[in-house]
Formats: sequence, structure tokens, C-alpha cells
Amino acid sequence: MSSIAYMNIAIVKYWCKDKFTPYLIPLVPSISLLSTKLYTKTEIKESGKDLFYLNDILQDEKETNKVFTFVDKVVKNRNKKICINTYNNMPTAAGLASSSSGYMALSIELNKFFNLDLEDNMLCKIASIGSGSASRSLYPIALFDKNGEIEKLESNIQFSMIAVIVNANRKKISSRAAMQISKDTSKLLDVWIEKNTEYADIMKRALKENDFNKVGIIMEKSTNLMHEVMKSSTPSIDYFMPLSYEIIEFVKKLRLDGINIYYTMDAGANVKVLFEKKDEVKIKKIFNEKYEGKIIDVI
Ligand code: ADP
Ligand code: DP6
Ligand code: CO
Repeated sequence: MSSIAYMNIAIVKYWCKDKFTPYLIPLVPSISLLSTKLYTKTEIKESGKDLFYLNDILQDEKETNKVFTFVDKVVKNRNKKICINTYNNMPTAAGLASSSSGYMALSIELNKFFNLDLEDNMLCKIASIGSGSASRSLYPIALFDKNGEIEKLESNIQFSMIAVIVNANRKKISSRAAMQISKDTSKLLDVWIEKNTEYADIMKRALKENDFNKVGIIMEKSTNLMHEVMKSSTPSIDYFMPLSYEIIEFVKKLRLDGINIYYTMDAGANVKVLFEKKDEVKIKKIFNEKYEGKIIDVI
């Protein structure tokens, strides 16, 4: 028995928590697209001792405690010790949303292993305790609203997305720690809450109306403002590397040349590029030539 979940990339970003009730209530709404390529596969087996392996490596005490704290919140009065074996087919903790597929795959597997009988909506809420973005990893397009509710959205847009890998190493500061610093110190927090709530409303409409350009424009606005919030925090949080800026400039230049593409970036230096399926061959060729060996498919 094992469970798979795909990671998701936000087109309206989640950054900062309000509280846990025990499910996560975020400070802002977010909207995401599910990857069709990058996933986590997780298997649980009964074991003499609680153990946590990630990509065949036994994890240290800190990571093990973190994951079992989550397990014990989900499974009350657990009567079995377990070994968790999990595989990410993308870099872990590098801004490629491993926590989203990681915690959703684990939630699905816990649900099966311990016969928890959780329905989809509850699965999303449970996953949000492990990682906010994980709550969005069940649906192709998901809205995680300010009440902590998950809604499945629809659109006829045929999305395609690649990531340009700038740095696949572990980030120096986790998303969780970084967004706490932003919440405690950023002077832009009120602006962030107000504007990103607006962006989510506009994005919902753009998806419904199949307006790809509107989706792209709002995705960039939410991305840019989130990184302003990070940079305005004390200490300042900056996930950019020089190549991140170069790729973003390249996307803007291509757009001026009439190619319909938009960028987004999460808590890591890697840049994701969003376009429509109909332009996939042309755009992938351009990026594979320019950034040879650095391109991975996301959608
Ligand atoms: P990312 O950008 O990859 O989402 P985060 O800082 O949000 O980075 O989260 C990374 C953390 O998520 C890891 O340090 C680990 O604690 C957790 N994580 C990642 N993959 C898994 C997995 N497959 N199973 C359980 N936890 C995972
Ligand atoms: C920048 O969900 O990884 O990717 O809830 O603390 O685990 P925790 O954080 P996480 O944050 C994701 C932040 C983001 C934007 C997004 O995915 O919406
Ligand atoms: Co994450």
C-alpha cells in the first residue's frame, strides 16, 4: 500500500498564517494549479519504532519529530508505531513545493493505514496542519480561502508550466519560519492582506472566463507583492539569486516579442513559467536552448 500526491504551484500566493483551529486559517486566500509531473509517494508500514525515511535516507531527530508531531495530531491515541517511507521526485525544500505533495501524500496514507474515514474536504484540512500549501494538493485548481476552506475551481484554460532550476539545494530558511518573520515584522502586511484578497477575487473570475492573460498578470502581481513582503521583513528574506532576475527579465522580453508567458517564484530561487498548452512546443524549445539542462516540466 502507498499513496501519491502531486505538488501544486500557487497562482495567487499564500504567505502567513493567522492561527490553527486546529486546522490552518491563513491570513490570505490562495489559488493553485496542480502539477501533473512532480509528486510524492509515501508508504506506511507497522514498525517496532517510529522512523522517517525520505528518499531512502533516515531523517534526523528534528525532521522525525516534526513529522511525528503531525502524525500524532492526525491520529489520536495511536496504537501502532510506524515507519514512513517517502519519495519526492523533485528537490526537497528548494521552493518546488515539496511540502505540498509531501503532507498531502502523508495525509492520504495515514487515512488509509489507520482507517480514519476522512472525506476529501477533511483530508485537505488535515494536510493544512502539516503545510498550508498541502491543503491545495487534491484538486487540479484549488482555492484555499481565508476561512481555511478548500474549494475546487474550474477553468477551460489548458495550462502548461515549466520550472527553470536556479538552485536545487535546501533553502536556508524554511517557508514556515520565513512567513512567521514576515507576519511579525513586515510593514506591508496590511497591504498584502488587502491586495492578495483582491487578487484572489480577480483570479477566480479570470479562471471562470478562461482569460489566460488575466491569470498571468494577477499571478505576477501576487508573486511580486509576496516577495516585497519577504524583503520588507526584519531580517529581510530574499530567495532571489542573480539568475532568478535574469530569467524573469527573459520572460518579460519574450512577452514583448508577443509570446504569451508569465513567471512566478516561491520560497526558493527557482522560477516557474506559465503558458498555454497550444504554445508548449515553441516555448519549451526556446527555454531548453537558453537554459539547457535546467528545465523541468511541472504541468
Ligand atoms: P518546499 O519549498 O519544498 O515546500 P518548505 O520549506 O515549505 O519547502 O518545506 C520543506 C519541508 O517539508 C521539509 O523540510 C520537510 O520537513 C517537509 N517535507 C518535504 N517533503 C516531504 C515528504 N515527502 N514527507 C514529509 N515531509 C516532507
Ligand atoms: C511561497 O505551505 O510551504 O510556496 O504552511 O509553513 O508549510 P507552511 O508553508 P508552505 O508555504 C508556501 C508558500 C509559497 C506560496 C504558496 O505555495 O502559496
Ligand atoms: Co512548502
